[in-house]
Amino acid sequence: MDICVIGAGYVGLTTSAVLANFGHNVYCVEKESEKVEMLKRSKIPIFEPGLEEMVVENQRKERLAFTTDLSKAIEESSIIFVTVGTPASTDGSPNLSFLNKVVDELVPLIQSYKIIVIKSTVPLGTNERIHKELMERGVSPDLFDVVSNPEFLREGSAVHDMQYPDKIVIGVKSLRPIEQMQKLYQDIEAPSIITSLTGAEMIKYASNAFLAMKISFINEIARISEAYHVDITEVALGLGMDPRVGPYFLQAGLGYGGSCFPKDLCALEFLAKEKEITPHLLQATREVNETQIEQYMKKIRKEFPDLTNKKLTVWGAAFKPNTDDIRHSQAMKLIEQLAREGCHLHVYDPVVTVAMPHVTFYQSLYDSIDQTDGIIIATDWNQFKEADWSFIKEKMKGKIVIDCRNCIEPSRIKNNGLTYVGVARP
Ligand code: UDX
Repeated sequence: MDICVIGAGYVGLTTSAVLANFGHNVYCVEKESEKVEMLKRSKIPIFEPGLEEMVVENQRKERLAFTTDLSKAIEESSIIFVTVGTPASTDGSPNLSFLNKVVDELVPLIQSYKIIVIKSTVPLGTNERIHKELMERGVSPDLFDVVSNPEFLREGSAVHDMQYPDKIVIGVKSLRPIEQMQKLYQDIEAPSIITSLTGAEMIKYASNAFLAMKISFINEIARISEAYHVDITEVALGLGMDPRVGPYFLQAGLGYGGSCFPKDLCALEFLAKEKEITPHLLQATREVNETQIEQYMKKIRKEFPDLTNKKLTVWGAAFKPNTDDIRHSQAMKLIEQLAREGCHLHVYDPVVTVAMPHVTFYQSLYDSIDQTDGIIIATDWNQFKEADWSFIKEKMKGKIVIDCRNCIEPSRIKNNGLTYVGVARP
């Protein structure tokens, strides 16, 4: 099938590469010409494991092309994916200006039947609105269908998640585009859920809200467990064995960040309030997350009562492992707070480097600990779990390791004469 993907962000690039890999012909359209030039040379602007290899392979097979020419890409494609960003506005509502601009551009370009697939996460009712707007602006309903097909990709494993999703959500207004959509995804072995346009939008928001709620739930249980000297990892294990709960997203720690959970939670809160519904659980989820930094700062201050001029190492700046994304990163918020309180920070992240006052980013894990008073683990990269603690003990000045992700087995640290501080790990 011939496909046009509008927007070469992380969702657009992953969608383009994986669809091309399934054998479709994909035109990935991006406004920024510099980015397109980079992509043509197979330089991927984001860190996403496996993506570059897949892009190179499919460019070589001439199934994937990057272009700024929207009109040609639309003309040659029967399916148009819209994967532009919907960042949060200052009031929490999603900013739809990129999406609206794409709709404006599509109006004159739809000259033969097209399926317009909206992948961007959009407020409830947006797909319906796009359908209505295209009709009102003179595009014949015979020439298009709008499909709401949200993505559930995790950064760091987006290529895998797109190839092996647990479900495919297809929101439609009529049955007409369903067969084509199923053909498009025929190589994916996953159940399809056919629902309304707004139903698909809600599945996406509800999924992210539920996962974020699970994280805030375990973080709240961790606070209580700590006060009663209970091991939260054992609680999570016991809790997660119940199939009604499931074992995932029960890792207590600094809290969630990234480009999706904070933004989508705010958007859903906003959408609820617009209908005069008080979203109690969504608010509580956000509040727990927002106060996690202070919870950990208390822990850090307990170990280092005077933070002024303390030399501390922080491992991790990305919002989670296997990504260079620092949007809404809890690790970055912790780094900023420590710097504000007068610490001299030595930061190491396997892929992130940021220029900021009082903070030095190191290129090597072991260089970052030289003569520092303590280590704070803020992102759970595997590299940190596999560190050589006896060597670290020799290089560090202090003895304290504060594991804000509960990701290291405490005995590995304690057996090397260091002090382990996690959350609710008595
Ligand atoms: C998320 C959703 O998982 C994905 O389906 C959606 O399409 C986009 O948003 P992503 O933002 O890439 O994906 O990250 P995810 O792996 O879900 O982690 C989000 C945050 O939660 C990270 O900051 C992570 O460190 C944190 N987290 C996750 C925890 O604190 N504890 C956990 O148990 C799991």
